[in-house]
Amino acid sequence: MEQLQTIELPVVDDFHTHLRQGAITKLIAKQVSDGGVGLAYVMPNLQPPIKTTDEALEYKKLLQSYNPEVEFLMTLYLTPDLTPEEIYKAAKAGIVGVKSYPRGVTTNSDSGVESYTVYYDVFRAMEKVNMVLNIHGEVPSSPDNNICVMNAEIEFLKNLEELHRDFPNLKIVLEHATTKESINLIKKINSPNVACTLTVHHLQLLIDDWAGQCHNFCKPVAKYPQDREALRSVIKDGLPQFFLGSDSAPHPRIKKESAKAPAGVFTTPNILPYLADIFESFGCLDKLHDFCCVNGRKFYGLPLNLDSRKKVKLVKAQNTIPDEYPYQDEKGQTQSVVPFLANKTINWKLL
Ligand code: NCD
Ligand code: DOR
Ligand code: ZN
Ligand code: ZN
Repeated sequence: MEQLQTIELPVVDDFHTHLRQGAITKLIAKQVSDGGVGLAYVMPNLQPPIKTTDEALEYKKLLQSYNPEVEFLMTLYLTPDLTPEEIYKAAKAGIVGVKSYPRGVTTNSDSGVESYTVYYDVFRAMEKVNMVLNIHGEVPSSPDNNICVMNAEIEFLKNLEELHRDFPNLKIVLEHATTKESINLIKKINSPNVACTLTVHHLQLLIDDWAGQCHNFCKPVAKYPQDREALRSVIKDGLPQFFLGSDSAPHPRIKKESAKAPAGVFTTPNILPYLADIFESFGCLDKLHDFCCVNGRKFYGLPLNLDSRKKVKLVKAQNTIPDEYPYQDEKGQTQSVVPFLANKTINWKLL
């Protein structure tokens, strides 16, 4: 019999994921392991957002009850309500980071310029206790200033530079980078305190793939071929500041296929097979291990545990991604979520 190509890895780390709330969460939390992931860094953008230590701990308990195999690392949502005292409490309770979204950083000046200055007391506290600032790096669209989804990330980057200048010891992650400008800035800053997550889907998608295709629509939107090339190049070069943060963001099929599709690409149940497939396509399978098992943990100061972690085995074999994953909603109705590359056949699967 022909020997199949296989890759064995420790369960991998996903440093940015959305596990939602309500009926869908049980499904998604379980699927974290299906994708080969053993550590999930959980985003706080529930409705209402997770803003306090107590809320984060309660959410963590729920996630652990759904999937005891996964280590869930929790975050708080940055709003003007967040205080240095809450930061100290959160750090003591093992909460790892604070996530900033564009709305939360807008001071609403006429020019649409964003400012973080209202948060400087909070950032000083975070710096002290080594909490990480996770940034969604886009400025709001502003037709008067020629800002739209295509340049919203690039326009944001000056804020990142400023922040790092003012808080050189604050650990900052630019989440889900999509542009060559972002990649160049992270390389230029070249600090152990400034890192960048890359998603599965942004290593694959281009503008043409989401224009008119709701299941590929996410924020920040996928950009030009040159941008995708820049994302791929830092993986090829094995740069340690870059690691996996899937930004898997499930929405019910009926919402994604409605007149106004919410942003989010859903990758959770197949993260590692997708990654192997995409990495192989640009000749980087040997970089998979550090990109999703090592670089993130080093940045976050977490133990590598490479030997003690459970192992997963990828095998090179045809793998047809399901059309959808069903679940029962709160009213007992059957809903579903549509995965990235639904109905497509990729070349790697998990045993
Ligand atoms: C989702 C939403 O409304 O976008 N919920 C959430 O972000 N907490 C709905 C969902 O996909 O479950
Ligand atoms: O595509 C996205 N979906 N980008 C985000 O920043 C949020 C996420 C979500 O929560 O749906
Ligand atoms: Zn984001
Ligand atoms: Zn996200």
